[in-house]
Amino acid sequence: MTWDYAPAPESTAMVSIDNTYGLYIGGDFVDPASGEYVKTINPATEEVLSAIAQADATDVDRAVEAARAAFEPWSTLPAPDRAKYLFRIARVIQERSRELAVLETMNGGKPIRESRDIDVPLAAAHFFYYAGWADKLEYAFAGRRAEPLGVAAQVIPWNFPLLMLAWKIAPALAAGNTVVLKPAETTPLTALAFASVCDQAGIPPGVVNIITGAGETGAMLVRHPDVDKVAFTGSTEVGKDIQRAIAGSAKHLTLELGGKAANIVFADAALDQAVEGIVNGIFFNQGHVCCAGSRLLVQESAFEQVMAKLKRRLGTLRLGDPLDKNTDIGAINSRAQLDKINSLVETGVDEGAELYQASCDLPDRGFWFPPSVFTGVSQSHRIAQEEIFGPVLSVLTFRTPEEAVEKANNTPYGLSAGVWTEKGSLILWMADRLRAGVVWANTFNRFDPASAFGGYKESGFGREGGPQGLSAYLRLTGP
Ligand code: NAI
Ligand code: MG
Repeated sequence: MTWDYAPAPESTAMVSIDNTYGLYIGGDFVDPASGEYVKTINPATEEVLSAIAQADATDVDRAVEAARAAFEPWSTLPAPDRAKYLFRIARVIQERSRELAVLETMNGGKPIRESRDIDVPLAAAHFFYYAGWADKLEYAFAGRRAEPLGVAAQVIPWNFPLLMLAWKIAPALAAGNTVVLKPAETTPLTALAFASVCDQAGIPPGVVNIITGAGETGAMLVRHPDVDKVAFTGSTEVGKDIQRAIAGSAKHLTLELGGKAANIVFADAALDQAVEGIVNGIFFNQGHVCCAGSRLLVQESAFEQVMAKLKRRLGTLRLGDPLDKNTDIGAINSRAQLDKINSLVETGVDEGAELYQASCDLPDRGFWFPPSVFTGVSQSHRIAQEEIFGPVLSVLTFRTPEEAVEKANNTPYGLSAGVWTEKGSLILWMADRLRAGVVWANTFNRFDPASAFGGYKESGFGREGGPQGLSAYLRLTGP
């Protein structure tokens, strides 16, 4: 007999969402000059949660002006005081962690288990970590003079809304910059809640500004002449557009773009652990992960065994209400993203790959996609080359380590990779040759604020996390 799980929904009682949100500029919520608002929904139910201001050129000007006005006092504050503000933000995030986790799940569709155990704790950890650096810049970059850049324009995506905000804002403030951040159009609510976190932490007005809107707002923000630094996470297409737009200006730029990571399983690996790592690699956050292990490379002799274990494991994944504490796979973030996943999966079938999907009931409302695995994939297939950004795994095989490296590197991207083997020397040999910013060994999708993250090739440039992430917000001079 099989057991059914009783529903275990997290309460939404501690979350209060306003009917409309203005723009957070200069420490206050203000009405947008545009007068325009767009609805934001819960992708698991399609229920409207709120109406969100859409910033136009005048609004972008106001936000950049507020950040500029705050720069001088903020950057000349004694560094230990800046650190105290960051510690306070971290503490407030911890205190409000349950509320922020529920809000993140309601607006983005990710399982509460993930927002509660990963997104929100890691967001707090980033503020704690960079708070620790704020008064130690001369130790981080010994012998060099470190100055903040000025006003940072930060545009972030919808897959880890609060966490990406933390990756951007924490190092920027620690280094003495002020910021204007634009969250993604589908997931503005935790960024707007973060505005109230800043109020609670007593952040001086204008140091953090949050403006909402679609791609046009982001495009205006990154091009603004009074912005000194641009930090973007999102699609490679938009990353290239931004790079072109600000070429020749004095703006500093970091880009964190797409990926098509190889998760490489050698036959000698602990296969049950590897299967957990494969599942975590591609089904974590519905596969809406830039460093997702979306290409599984299995050593030929272990292929049948790995596939049998993987299919069995797929059958135990629970898809449904993201607020349910037992849910593994939540909702797809938006209808547009679901359309993209559907169309790429169709090309996979058309190009001759074999599709396996776990049998599971999809809810009637909302946006859903079942955990899916393609076998018989060749390197030229679009599903082996393009980022699907959904719960879809493409499986290829290899015989030798050399072949694994060649296949792993055969993509325009280079953000992350995973290696599963019992042989330590093989891990090091592989890590030397994989053109990826992060190589995980016998694990996948592990994040730590002290560890730098970023890409090779079309996955972007610049690093976030660690002292490297701090240097992206500093002008370093001297020997
Ligand atoms: P996107 O790159 O268009 O959106 C990311 C952010 O950039 C959002 O805040 C958006 O408003 C903003 N934006 C859009 N156009 C802009 C422009 N011209 N100038 C400045 N900012 C702009 O990504 P989208 O359309 O949501 O997703 C498309 C695909 O991109 C996904 O299917 C996925 O493959 C990839 N993607 C990768 C992410 C990553 O973490 N590397 C995150 C999100 C998407
Ligand atoms: Mg787009």
